[in-house]
Amino acid sequence: MAAQEAVHALREALGSQVVQLPEEFGDRRVVDWSGLPGGVPLAVIRPRDTAEVAKALHICSEHGQPVVTQGGLTGLVGGANVQGGEVAISLDRMNKIVEIDPVSSTMTVEAGTPLQVVQEAATAAGFYFPLDLGARGSCSIGGNLATNAGGNRVIKYGMMRDQVLGLEAVLASGKVIGGLNKMIKDNSGYDLRHLLIGSEGTLAIITRAVLRLRPKPTATATAWCGLPSYEAVTTLLSRAQARLAPGVSAFEVMWKGYYDAVLANLDTLRAPLDEAHPFYVLLESVGTDPVRHADAFEEFLGEMLEAGVVSDAALASSDSQALAFWAIRDAPGEYQRFIPNHAAYDVSFSIAQVGEAAQRCDVRLRERWPDAIVMIYGHLGDGNIHVVVDVPGMGKHDHDEIDDVIYDVTRDLQGSISAEHGIGTKKKHFLHFTRSDNDIESMRAIKSALDPHGLLNPGKVF
Ligand code: FAD
Ligand code: LAC
Ligand code: ZN
Repeated sequence: MAAQEAVHALREALGSQVVQLPEEFGDRRVVDWSGLPGGVPLAVIRPRDTAEVAKALHICSEHGQPVVTQGGLTGLVGGANVQGGEVAISLDRMNKIVEIDPVSSTMTVEAGTPLQVVQEAATAAGFYFPLDLGARGSCSIGGNLATNAGGNRVIKYGMMRDQVLGLEAVLASGKVIGGLNKMIKDNSGYDLRHLLIGSEGTLAIITRAVLRLRPKPTATATAWCGLPSYEAVTTLLSRAQARLAPGVSAFEVMWKGYYDAVLANLDTLRAPLDEAHPFYVLLESVGTDPVRHADAFEEFLGEMLEAGVVSDAALASSDSQALAFWAIRDAPGEYQRFIPNHAAYDVSFSIAQVGEAAQRCDVRLRERWPDAIVMIYGHLGDGNIHVVVDVPGMGKHDHDEIDDVIYDVTRDLQGSISAEHGIGTKKKHFLHFTRSDNDIESMRAIKSALDPHGLLNPGKVF
């Protein structure tokens, strides 16, 4: 009853164009990419600006109406899913680039703007926006901020947290905080921006942001390498960082199990090397002088081959060849097609321990399920691996035993249960594997200070 009154009040205040009922939004997708079950929102609110977000939240707070914020719905932890009784606020209409300031090297955007639109606009303006991940075409800047997304170029440019100068958001009460400031330095009290980044829609709705643009690299070199051991992989990483510095812009590692599975299942992919290897690395570096950079990169690879660190390598001689290498790394976008019931993990360790962690996971999984497909790959420069497991016959939601294997290894090696995807509902029961009771208590105190009635994304993170 109270919920119906809230929806009625929202519709009165914002109109039926903005507040859409289930019969109006029809078969619109309202669940994220995680595959976790999600309900149908009581209404989907699609504000056109910050003032409408503020008005919607003010009404929701007066009615005690819970809200789930939705961006591009590419999240992997159920964070944008409705659990029952919530309205959804989608930022999909707030998708405009407000301004590019070439002197300050900033781009001001509305939070619903897709990542790829930002990347392309930056390039068109002679700049570079470095955040990049496989969901670039669909994920939104607001979602990237709310999850503190990482992706492929963190090794050089950092996570989403490092790409933002100003951030505007609306609290559960409807009050607007933050702003569109472009200062690089601002120590005027607590940094609310960093509190909201990574808060997964539980503290506020992010409405606009000032993004930091970088100089466009004028030279990029890309190679696909086959390596004999994990030790060789870490040697290549440290030598590349020393020799190609400050230019290593991606260091993506794929264990053989990943490579074999994606090449066997996706016929658009081509093997870059003739022989099989235990490990593959997609190495990319950026520089300023195309000729000198290409020469230095090739010379470095030659040395690594001679030293036996790399067993074989293919150097991309064109953009399309580099894209063909990246297509092998971007294959997770196709999992739904060939392993729809898979379990996926996003864990991090010190770089020294990633090899041990991967091996423990692989051995324990195979002992328990000898016919499982186990794929391990990730952003090794950041100590972040993804483990994907498909056990024949196992249901989409029956992953508890696999969770135990992966998170026990993570806890034993003092890793993190979420390197970049967040907690959502998927990992909240394991939060204490990584965070202390005092940490969690502090997080709860912040949550109740900013959202005292627990209306924003209830049941997520904790
Ligand atoms: P949604 O899924 O809509 O929402 C995600 C969370 O953010 C939810 O909790 C939601 O409530 C909240 N939220 C969304 N918008 C706002 C807002 N404006 N204000 C407040 N809260 C909000 N992630 C990585 O970090 N690295 C990767 O390499 C990576 N690769 C991926 C590859 C594929 C193929 C896919 C499908 C996903 C990948 N992801 C990756 C995960 C996902 O793309 C990111 O988490 C992304 O940042 C989510 O953005 P979104 O707009 O789709 O958010
Ligand atoms: C990736 C996503 C799954 O790196 O984070 O492919
Ligand atoms: Zn990733």
